[in-house]
Formats: sequence, C-alpha cells, structure tokens
Amino acid sequence: MTLLCSSWGKATWILTLAFAIIAIIFYCFDDSAPSRYTSSMDENMETLKENFRSQNKSCFILGASGETGKVLLQELLERNIFSKITLIGRRQLTFEGKEYENLVQEVVDFEKLDDFAAAFKDHDVGYCCLGTTRAKSGVDGFIRVDHDYVLKSAELAKAGGCTQFHLESSRGADKKSSFLYLKVKGQVEAAIEALGFDRLAIYRPGVLLVDRKESRPGEWLARKFFGAISAVGSSSLSIPIQAVAKAMVSNTLLQPEQKTEILENKDMAKLGNTKANQ
Ligand SMILES: NC(=O)c1ccc[n+]([C@@H]2O[C@H](COP(=O)([O-])OP(=O)(O)OC[C@H]3O[C@@H](n4cnc5c(N)ncnc54)[C@H](OP(=O)(O)O)[C@@H]3O)[C@@H](O)[C@H]2O)c1
Repeated sequence: MTLLCSSWGKATWILTLAFAIIAIIFYCFDDSAPSRYTSSMDENMETLKENFRSQNKSCFILGASGETGKVLLQELLERNIFSKITLIGRRQLTFEGKEYENLVQEVVDFEKLDDFAAAFKDHDVGYCCLGTTRAKSGVDGFIRVDHDYVLKSAELAKAGGCTQFHLESSRGADKKSSFLYLKVKGQVEAAIEALGFDRLAIYRPGVLLVDRKESRPGEWLARKFFGAISAVGSSSLSIPIQAVAKAMVSNTLLQPEQKTEILENKDMAKLGNTKANQ
C-alpha cells in the first residue's frame, strides 16, 4: 500500500512537472500579439487577384522540389496569377498533367551561380523555399545552402530585374542569435534586405506540419507534439505547410506600406486560412 501511494505520488509529481514545463514553453514562446491580417481582406482578394493577373507578371521558385516549394507551385498553378512560372533548381523535375505544360525549368549549379545569371533574368517576382539541415549537410553545408545560395540567387534575381522577393525563413530568425540555425536565417534575411528590392516579404513559420518523405526523427517528434498542440488552438508555434504556401500567394497580391515586411507564424496562419483560400 505504501509502495502504491509512493508510486502515485511520483507519477503525480512527474505529470505536474511536465505540465509546468509545457506551460512555461507556451508562456515564453507563444506570440500573443494579434495578427494584422483580418478576414475582411476576403472581399478584396478576388479583385486583387484579377488585377494582378491582368499585369502578366512572371515568377520563379527556388526549392520547388521541397515540401513547401511543391505546395507553393500547386497553389500558384491553381490561382493562375502569373503568365509564366520558372522553377530554378539543381535537378530537372518530372510532372504529369496538363497544368504543368507551361512550366519552364532552369537547372543550375549552385556552386557556380554566376555562370547561370541568365536563369534569373526577367522575372518580376521570386519565391525562395530553399534550405537544408545541419544534420543532412553539416554546418558548412547548411550555411552554404541556407545563406550563400539563397543570397547569391537573390542578388542575381535583383540584377536581372526582379522587384519582389518572397523568402521562407524561420520563426525566431535573428542574426544575433547564439543558435546557428536562427543566426544564419537572420543573417540571410538582413543581407537580402540590404539588396533593396522594391518589396521583400519574409515568412517566419514555426514547425512545418507536413508528412515529410525524408526521415528527420527530431522534426517528426516536434511535428507530432506541435500538431497535437495546434489541434487545441495555438497557431504561433507550428503551421500546416498548405497555410504557408497559401499565405505566400495571397500576400503577393497585397500592397504593403513598407518595403520589407515580416510575416510571423500567426500572420501566415491567418492569411493562409482566409475564405479566399478555401
Ligand atoms: N522544416 C521545418 O519545420 C521548418 C520550419 C521553419 C522554417 N523552415 C525553412 O523553410 C524552408 C523550406 O523548408 P522545407 O522543409 O519546405 O524544405 P525541404 O523540403 O527540405 O526542401 C528544400 C529544397 O531545397 C533544395 N536544396 C537542398 N539542398 C540543396 C543543395 N545543396 N543545392 C541545391 N538545392 C538544395 C531541395 O532540392 P532537392 O529536392 O534537389 O534536394 C529542395 O528543393 C527552409 O529554408 C527551412 O529552413 C523549415
């Protein structure tokens, strides 16, 4: 009996401690500021889409073979706001279906991007969903892809006439962070801002909720945890990948007051879930 009571006691303590830790995580990391995107934007979205479409603009996507890039491409094809879409990547992608017929693909060597400047020429809008992980590519490889390739691509795009750049970064990106991942993301954001695009949109998603094909055990655990949490309401720590893609496309149609805007997880969740997106 004494043993049972002491086991119960221990279990209660462990549970209390676990809940306390979760509560602290939420208190520290939850972004309670309201999103500046509201559902009243729905009414204008259709008109904005028609106006944008009539301008016959072109865009490119970096990272269209990745999880966000794939969904972003689908979203762009469905909403049909560009007269030309170019995919820039390290390999040729195969698509089946009529909707892909007009896609242009440019295969480049990211180590020699200057030799491929022509691929970045004459696009109005650029989307970047490029990235790797430290686990997959090592520290140097991660910096190379997430900073050097992304920045060089942005530079070539700007030189080639691109006026609008949409960068998928990460929640917590901060060039002064002591965490490598957040620091590199913050550094590349700042370096691209310094290029002076007419418009720069930086998207900072939390954990991306997606059934990833590639095995990433740490990310899998985070997805399960944050997926369960988001089911009970919080939208500042994780986000379904579809909402990110939808937010990127909807935001392209808007005309912000500032040259550079940062969309936090909550903004994307709001913008990606407007009626116009359903
Ligand atoms: N995962 C998350 O929970 C999370 C959270 C916040 C932000 N983010 C950020 O969001 C962005 C997109 O994430 P994601 O999960 O959608 O990406 P992903 O599925 O990992 O796809 C990454 C893309 O980058 C390309 N790429 C990777 N290494 C490359 C290299 N060495 N050379 C050329 N291309 C390379 C891939 O091309 P291949 O198909 O040819 O490999 C792919 O198109 C990343 O910047 C990531 O850091 C992710």
